[in-house]
Amino acid sequence: MKISNAHLRSFRNHNETAFEFASQINVLLGENGQGKTNALEALSFLCLTKSFYASTDATVMQQQKKFFEIKSTLESDEGKNFQVRITYDDVKKEKKFTINGADVEKFSTVIGMFPVVILSPENNSITFGSPADRRKFINLVISQSSKSYVEDSIEYRRIVRQRNTILSMAKGKDCSNEISPWNEMLVRYGARIIYKRNQFLTEFEPYIAQTYLDIVAERETPKIEYLPSVFIRQDSTIEEVATAIETKLAKKKNDELRFQTTLVGPHRDEIIFSLNGLSLKQFASQGQHKTFLIALKVAEFFFLKERCNETPIFLLDDVFSELDENRSRKILSLVQSLGQIFITTTSEKIFDGTDWNGKQRRKFFIKNGETVNELLAA
Ligand SMILES: Nc1ncnc2c1ncn2[C@@H]1O[C@H](COP(=O)(O)OP(=O)(O)O)[C@@H](O)[C@H]1O
Ligand SMILES: [Mg+2]
Repeated sequence: MKISNAHLRSFRNHNETAFEFASQINVLLGENGQGKTNALEALSFLCLTKSFYASTDATVMQQQKKFFEIKSTLESDEGKNFQVRITYDDVKKEKKFTINGADVEKFSTVIGMFPVVILSPENNSITFGSPADRRKFINLVISQSSKSYVEDSIEYRRIVRQRNTILSMAKGKDCSNEISPWNEMLVRYGARIIYKRNQFLTEFEPYIAQTYLDIVAERETPKIEYLPSVFIRQDSTIEEVATAIETKLAKKKNDELRFQTTLVGPHRDEIIFSLNGLSLKQFASQGQHKTFLIALKVAEFFFLKERCNETPIFLLDDVFSELDENRSRKILSLVQSLGQIFITTTSEKIFDGTDWNGKQRRKFFIKNGETVNELLAA
């Protein structure tokens, strides 16, 4: 997949910005705070129907404005063109997504159509942060490769919210009657999600092993271990997962009343990363964290490429500023071979000595939400 062009209106600090992108390498250059990340955010918005930050639609709308719009032409690997348009109307609180002029009714159907991999400073929390950060990472990968997972996740969140409301209104008293239908739902949807995550992490393992090997010369073995909130085996069936949730739910009944919240289910899952058998979070150096994260993202790229049958676009937000020259060069030479990439940076120095192998490139100077673009010689 490729993004041929994008037209942003009233999106963050972009009043009206038009991009004609190169089919391979796009560099967004500019000082801090000028609107580079905002431009990548708009591109991810096209692919995910929302921001990759936890922001609402109203926050990405330019201040003092009542709407925003992103228009773009995307081209699939097979050469099919898609005119995509997103508009948000803050007065009606209405978001519209159209593809080739036709309204998309259910936004979840778009996820995975235009696969995207994002590597941004925020992602540091995937290896450094809480279990929720790791769940968010795998959720985004699985969601782009499985429509049912997106829908199950939306439904599951609703179920947990409902259960939590019932538990908090019960104020510690028995609420078996009210909660019982929600228990059934939690078991059904929770099992689907845990089963899918289990399957995904097993399938993802060889991808991360391979990319790690590509990035790191010495032999370090990365591992991803799934610790769901209920006991399952790697080959558990979905029925077995359901039974495990049901059993634990019954066991935790009193605790749930006491803490007034849902204590069992995939929203309590943990994912552990390790290198040579040592937990990344506890033992790894900064450099190992960074390398692991990049390996995860490149693995995500290859995984999605295969599962979606479409080459993802790769957004690299301020990635190279934190890396030493040697590592930067290695990562750059790896990512430039992937597909269409978008790199933001404050300094072109990071590209010194980069061999672009004749790839089509464009450079955009971003200043105060505006851009000047320039075609570069290959
Ligand atoms: N909703 C918004 N409306 C107008 N300006 C915004 C909005 N959200 C963020 N900004 C502005 O965007 C700028 C940051 O842009 P960003 O893309 O993060 O910069 P960078 O080029 O460093 O990546 C800041 O000046 C911020 O005030
Ligand atoms: Mg930025």
